[in-house]
Order: sequence, then structure tokens, then C-alpha cells
Amino acid sequence: MNIRTFEKRDLQSMNRIWNESVQTGKVIYYYLTEAYFHTKFEKNPHYNPKYSLVAGVDDEIVGFINGIVKKIFLTNKTNENSPGDITCFFVHKDYRYRGIGRVLVDELCKLFKSAGKRSDVISNNNPVNFDWRVPGTYGHDHNNTPGVDMDSQGYEFLKAIDFEDSDRKIAMYLYLKNYIPWDKLKEQQAQLLSEDIFWKEKLSLHYLLARTTAPRASICAQAFA
Ligand SMILES: CC(C)(COP(=O)(O)OP(=O)(O)OC[C@H]1O[C@@H](n2cnc3c(N)ncnc32)[C@H](O)[C@@H]1OP(=O)(O)O)[C@@H](O)C(=O)NCCC(=O)NCCS
Repeated sequence: MNIRTFEKRDLQSMNRIWNESVQTGKVIYYYLTEAYFHTKFEKNPHYNPKYSLVAGVDDEIVGFINGIVKKIFLTNKTNENSPGDITCFFVHKDYRYRGIGRVLVDELCKLFKSAGKRSDVISNNNPVNFDWRVPGTYGHDHNNTPGVDMDSQGYEFLKAIDFEDSDRKIAMYLYLKNYIPWDKLKEQQAQLLSEDIFWKEKLSLHYLLARTTAPRASICAQAFA
């Protein structure tokens, strides 16, 4: 097996591996097309192809991984105190359980370390915000992957290679007909205001909905040795 930096000519192989996982329900992402790749990766100001790797066996691409080293930071955030973001990783179904996924993550982590990172994470703070279908719905969307789907192979894989849950995200989805206002909403709003925290009705609603459904995704993180 060899690992090298992703090149545009690998896109077709990448599409095939990605889309097989979507089709078989291994991931809840959209299908990958050239246009989607362009929108989500190439147009993203943080994207740098240096942090996209492919694994090859006998001239065939059998796996890939993408990571992001952010270029723009929020207040108090720097390159050094922000983790390297793992966006996604896939291994061809016929090549799984041979250590390829682990090598891809290890190689990306080496690049993260040389970029000054002390840890890596797969989370909702990744600027490459994939859409995903909310499971158990008729194709309803969520416009940002909230971490790793806890029902996915990816989650079990990350646990096996020593990532830890640092946070659990609750799926924010509810039929509006089942909406019940949270009885502590007014109290919570007053509390936030007293701390000079401004909210919008929408935010409060998200918070409210978040309390009504079960944990669905995990933020998996790992500190570098
Ligand atoms: C997740 C995925 C990339 C793992 O790739 P892989 O090449 O099979 O993983 P490896 O062979 O390197 O496995 C490394 C370790 O994880 C374990 N592992 C891998 N997949 C696992 C799974 N589904 N359940 C439990 N453990 C798993 C392996 O047993 C191995 O453990 P070990 O070193 O103790 O023996 C692959 O299953 C895949 O592409 N799945 C579909 C796409 C996906 O879910 N992507 C994540 C979201 S972007």
C-alpha cells in the first residue's frame, strides 16, 4: 500500500468509494459529485489539498482521508490552540480491516503535527460542513455534520484507534406537530440575558429541540503523544 497526496485525477475513484458507502447506508452524507466536491472542498477558504491523502494498492485508489488546518480563526483561537480537523475518511469495502484506515489517520496526524497541531478532532466545528440526511426521516436534511454518526463504522473505527468521545451531540430534529414548549425557556432566556448573552428565538428553539431527542453523533478527539 502507498499513501500520497490527493490529486484531482483521483476524484472518480474517491466518488465511487464514497458513493458506495452512501448507497449501502454506511454514511448519511449526500452522494459525492464533482460539483459537490467543488462546493464543499475547493471553494472552502480553509481547504488545502495537502491535507487530502489517498491510499493505493496495485495502482488502484482504495481509500482517502481529508483534513483541514484552519486559516482563519475566531477571537482567542490560534493555529496552536486549535485542533486539526478530520473531515472524512473512507476505505473501499473490499479493503477494510487491513489497517488502511489507521494508516490514513496516522499519516494525516503527522501532517497536522508538522503544522503545529497538538490534537485532532472530528466535530461540527469543521469548516467543511457536509449536509447529511437526518436518519429515520423521509430524506430531511441537516446542513452540518455534527460529528461522527454513532451508528457508523467510522465511530467504532475511531474508538478502536484510541479516539475518545469529548462531547455528544443530540440530533436536532422534531416534527413540529410534536413540539412542546420547554417550560424553563423563559427562565433560561432571563439567565442568559443577565449574563449579557444575546439570543435569537431560533437559537433558543434549537436548544429546546436539542433536549427532546436522543444523542446521535459524537465529537471524537485525540491528543497527540
Ligand atoms: C471506517 C473505515 C474507514 C475503517 O477503515 P479500515 O481500513 O477498515 O480500518 P482499519 O483496518 O485501519 O482498522 C483499524 C482498527 O479499527 C477497527 N475497526 C475498523 N472498522 C471497525 C468497525 N466497523 N467496528 C469495529 N472496529 C472497527 C479494526 O478492527 C482495527 O482494530 P485493531 O487495530 O484493534 O485490529 C471503513 O470501515 C469505511 O470506509 N467505512 C465506511 C465509511 C465511514 O464510515 N466513514 C467514516 C465517516 S466519514
